[in-house]
Amino acid sequence: MTNNHHDSIRAVEWANGALKLLDQRLLPQQRTYVMLENVRDTAQAITDMVVRGAPAIGVTAAYGVVLAACARHARASATWKHDIETDIDVLARSRPTAVNLCWALDRMRRVIPAISSDPYEPLLAEARRIHEEDIAANRHMGQLGAALIADSGQTPCAVLTHCNTGSLATGGYGTALGVIRAAYAAGKVNQVFADETRPWLQGARLTAWELVEDNIPVTLVVEGAGAHLMKQGAVRWVIVGADRIAANGDTANKIGTYNLAVVARYHGVKFMVVAPTSTLDMTLSNGEGIPIEIRSTNEILNHNGSQVAAQGAAAWNPAFDVTPAALIDAIVTERGVVLAPTPEKIAAMMSGT
Ligand code: MRU
Repeated sequence: MTNNHHDSIRAVEWANGALKLLDQRLLPQQRTYVMLENVRDTAQAITDMVVRGAPAIGVTAAYGVVLAACARHARASATWKHDIETDIDVLARSRPTAVNLCWALDRMRRVIPAISSDPYEPLLAEARRIHEEDIAANRHMGQLGAALIADSGQTPCAVLTHCNTGSLATGGYGTALGVIRAAYAAGKVNQVFADETRPWLQGARLTAWELVEDNIPVTLVVEGAGAHLMKQGAVRWVIVGADRIAANGDTANKIGTYNLAVVARYHGVKFMVVAPTSTLDMTLSNGEGIPIEIRSTNEILNHNGSQVAAQGAAAWNPAFDVTPAALIDAIVTERGVVLAPTPEKIAAMMSGT
């Protein structure tokens, strides 16, 4: 836990030589922590959504490499650097869409060749750096994104967000929710509408919980309410996170994001994507190549273990969709803001020119 104003929650921590995850499946009813001591359990926790949200998945996987290396080094010190690739593969396959996962694994991998003795300290140091850098990036994006909202003199506005992009979904503070936190603190936002976000209810369970914990006014809406809400002029911005952004700005995020972007453009509501550069996949020229996770149909057909859908109905459960860059007004990263994204502008932002 941290004592920072508007940032009181940590979902991923390293504690006493183990990985401590806040079990997000049980929130907000129960605040239960899971202690993980091996790489298989870490990968399973990612697949099972104990931890979720692209940056939080990356941070978790980095700590997973520490667990893997210590076990391998203890068992067979001569070959651990080679053998650990099997464990890194297991982590890499735990969820397919968030590119932060492979980005974090690549960073951990790059540390390994120079290690000459016990890998614990150097790998833990890198995992902690990944974690701390993510929080710092979020804080910076919070300021950059908040600066886009309302000019001085305008009345504070309401915004709509989707899924959960807060402290729970990141190393801490949040991406889209970080912007909302910063904009609320600056008096630019006075009301947050949160989509409930079927089928895992990340909005209803997690975003609403984080905002209530931080005393930021939150109003839940069902996903189908987005168009009606925007038609009434109730929100000035839709602010979302991302799981993977292609080199042209096409953005994969929680299923339903694309709907909001279409509706926002129709109603003249601005659409902001907030994500660290670890979410950018410059190897993909556009969103066509982004792998979309298809999850179990049980998540739609059942609720809390009981069948809710008609017996015999089929279901289709893509966890993400891709919003075309043309529908995005701003992409906010820790390296800067790209307005009306194009491949050229994104390449310039990535190279710092
Ligand atoms: O399935 P989830 O809960 O992992 O999906 C999370 C999202 O879609 C978030 O919007 C995204 O990962 C960005 S989190 C800062």
